[in-house]
Amino acid sequence: MECTKLFSFVFYLSCLSSLTVIQAEDPYLFFEWQVTYGTLSPLGKPQQVILINNQFPGPTINSTSNNNIVINIFNKLDEPLLFTWNGVQQRKNSWQDGLPGTTCPIKPGTNFTVKFQVKDQIGSYYYYPTTALHKAAGGYGGLRIHSRDLIPIPFDIPSGDFDVLVGDWYSDSHTSLKGFLDSGRPLGRPDGVLINGKGVTSKDDKPMFTMQSGKTYRYRICNVGMKNSINVRFQDHKMKLVEIEGSHTVQNDYDSLDVHLGQCYSVLITANKEANNYLLVASTRFTKEVLTSTAVFGYENGKGAPSTVLPPAPSDGTDGIAWSMNQFRSFRWNLTASAARPNPQGSYHYGQINITRTIRLSASSGKANGKLRYAFNGVSHTDPETPMKLAEYFGLSDKVFKYDLIKDVPPPTIKGVGDGESVTIAPNVLNATFRNFVEIILENPEKSINSFHLAGFSFFAVAVEPGVWSPEKRKTYNLVDAVSRNTIQVYPNSWAAIMLTLDNAGMWNLRSTTLERGYLGQQMYFSVVSPERSLRDEYMLDDTQQLCGVAIGAPKPPPYGLA
Ligand SMILES: *[C@@H]1O[C@H](CO)[C@@H](O)[C@H](O)[C@H]1NC(C)=O
Ligand SMILES: *[C@@H]1O[C@H](CO)[C@@H](O)[C@H](O)[C@H]1NC(C)=O
Ligand SMILES: *[C@@H]1O[C@H](CO)[C@@H](O)[C@H](O)[C@H]1NC(C)=O
Ligand SMILES: *[C@@H]1O[C@H](CO)[C@@H](O)[C@H](O)[C@H]1NC(C)=O
Ligand SMILES: *[C@@H]1O[C@H](CO)[C@@H](O)[C@H](O)[C@H]1NC(C)=O
Repeated sequence: MECTKLFSFVFYLSCLSSLTVIQAEDPYLFFEWQVTYGTLSPLGKPQQVILINNQFPGPTINSTSNNNIVINIFNKLDEPLLFTWNGVQQRKNSWQDGLPGTTCPIKPGTNFTVKFQVKDQIGSYYYYPTTALHKAAGGYGGLRIHSRDLIPIPFDIPSGDFDVLVGDWYSDSHTSLKGFLDSGRPLGRPDGVLINGKGVTSKDDKPMFTMQSGKTYRYRICNVGMKNSINVRFQDHKMKLVEIEGSHTVQNDYDSLDVHLGQCYSVLITANKEANNYLLVASTRFTKEVLTSTAVFGYENGKGAPSTVLPPAPSDGTDGIAWSMNQFRSFRWNLTASAARPNPQGSYHYGQINITRTIRLSASSGKANGKLRYAFNGVSHTDPETPMKLAEYFGLSDKVFKYDLIKDVPPPTIKGVGDGESVTIAPNVLNATFRNFVEIILENPEKSINSFHLAGFSFFAVAVEPGVWSPEKRKTYNLVDAVSRNTIQVYPNSWAAIMLTLDNAGMWNLRSTTLERGYLGQQMYFSVVSPERSLRDEYMLDDTQQLCGVAIGAPKPPPYGLA
């Protein structure tokens, strides 16, 4: 519903008042989070972790399309804190995206109430802290958005719904890892893999997931790790893929799935084997030494310990990459299924829209002041004290950052192999035009795999291919049933093409989901401004929102209009 249509008095008020960013008609879910440090031994050795309400991983946010989520967050850490709701599009509301470029952090010892709406979305997502290197200590959790009752989903309602948060893990504290990166040293290899916060198993483990014979369950698998792609497989059971990051997919069966950093996949598992205990396996991909973790999934009244013979991982190396690319190509949008809205996904013909802008981003590594940095097109992002979104809103951008330091084409000097090539450290913000249909080419000239997440949008992942991109490569694009999603992997010496309409006004982050690369500057923002300055296109800053930097005491901009 738009503010131009003043159907109800309640809604009229909510449009007028910048306090009420969220719509009054939709249900509210209230949460209170106590965020603290704690000591746990995910890999067998005690270490400091971040807990939410004493939980690691944090509590799952279980919601339905259009719910309003209100979370009163108490920061009991000794550092400023922010959470992002990875994959939640925050329509008209980049204020709540929870990144240092959009939002002022919650000061230690204080609490702040985050409010956002999961508008017109369904699917499997997760949240995590975006400040410092907090993610390396945990603080993440699952975020589900169910379809509204009236909207059919393309499978029977599962008998249960499980989160499977997998990811590699370091046994060093987030502060020492941050120390390495700040001093120009890479993070090195992770120490293990966690499944829902657990990295060590014993024979006597009770099942982490329990199913009843004959029933079907949904497992929402997300890679919340820091460095590696993870292959996931279920002993003796096929995975039926049904959803990727908010899109219903063609329901193919898989023995194993590559879940790259930051990605989420929903699979259905039917308990149609002997009532026993089995192992879910998560192992690193494309790594010299493969790190593996298991968790028990079993049948109610299942007998006996699981077999120790693990289902095999797909091969690594060049073959493995070809296998993985093929698996990507097998993911298709189900054109007849609905997602958050009743109309079928395929009624949106993205392949017939003319591209208005092509942005090629080369994700390179390099050096600045002798230290390791990562960049897009030669600029390594740094967060200014004032979030760029706030600076832009208060008309103070020129005090904080410059637009368009990078061009739409990478400079010819980029080789990308960390050979000491110099990069510029600065806030990296591209001015993008509201409602343009753009093509973004993500180029990975490095020897290791990378993965990228875009906030604020879903994009069509139309191609992931080896070699160097050129306009002729558009012939390889899937312009019919590519999956609309928010995170895409790019293999070594390869590229990926994504397409999207910039129909969400705000300041939106594109980042490498490898923690090291993102932290060391491989991220940027798209400033998408609606020239209308209308509440129809973007909310004003909520009066309760915290201010920082040059935004403190700055005069408010004139109110946005209603049309
Ligand atoms: C999550 O939400 C769905 C849809 O509202 C509901 O059916 C389910 O019971 C909820 N699960 C939990 C654990 O609250
Ligand atoms: C902090 O928590 C208190 C008590 O729950 C609440 O009344 C207050 O609104 C919260 N403050 C902010 C800024 O959210
Ligand atoms: C696509 O969705 C439709 C509509 O819900 C469903 O009937 C069909 O089985 C799905 N097709 C595939 C191939 O998954
Ligand atoms: C797209 O571009 C083609 C060729 O330039 C043009 O003929 C067509 O009208 C355009 N379509 C739209 C929807 O703008
Ligand atoms: C962004 O681009 C638009 C359209 O080209 C232009 O009108 C606007 O002035 C630019 N904004 C900035 C801050 O450069």
